Amino acid sequence: MKLIVANLKMNLLFEEINVYKETLENISFTNKIVVCAPMAFVPLFKSDKYSLGAQNCYVEDKGAYTGEVSAKQLKSLGAEYVIVGHSERRSYFKEENDFINKKCLKVLENNMLPILCVGEITEEKLAGNTYNVIQKELAECLVGINNFDNLVIAYEPIWSIGTGLIPSVDEIKDAIAYIKEYVKGNYRQEVKVLYGGSVNMNNIFEIGQIDNVDGFLIGTSSININDFVNDIEKIN
Ligand code: PGA
Repeated sequence: MKLIVANLKMNLLFEEINVYKETLENISFTNKIVVCAPMAFVPLFKSDKYSLGAQNCYVEDKGAYTGEVSAKQLKSLGAEYVIVGHSERRSYFKEENDFINKKCLKVLENNMLPILCVGEITEEKLAGNTYNVIQKELAECLVGINNFDNLVIAYEPIWSIGTGLIPSVDEIKDAIAYIKEYVKGNYRQEVKVLYGGSVNMNNIFEIGQIDNVDGFLIGTSSININDFVNDIEKIN
């Protein structure tokens, strides 16, 4: 069974949510679906049919942190997954690995699963540094983590996010193998790894055939519910 995570980013309006939800409620799927809604709408996506996720959280439980939402609050809404270290958080909000590590630990402390995003930018790829970048992100974001049953890693080459460009099948397979071997080598444990970056109904089946891909993190193609349904149905 694959894990298919919708990252809605900062899309949808309140009035669009019912249609999104109803459509998702009324299709049948065999894989596990997680919807990571914009923060304001997270509670509206509670469902028996798919899991609730968030796109971010803060590292403190409560207090004077205007505008932030704690992992504990997300847990109290019924969230099961929280995306951490997404490249858009890293680039626009200057989140660094040590801060992302604190978020991972906080999500775990609240009995939810972090979906930790790692991946390289174009220049790093062209310089042959993809694995060095991934290695550093893993080393610094996974400090203090000892149970990989409760954590998911998403390999998201940054140059592929929202661009329509995707790595070759071999590149995806090798990067995911690298991540799994890193966790195995350092922690003696297995970890689930998703692929993210321009996944859509035209490529999801092929990427899903790669044997070490445990699922997908889907941005653009999850925003329109019909696109997302098509994605889901391609790998049912
Ligand atoms: P994309 O985004 O599917 O639009 O490339 C993926 C992501 O940012 O998680």
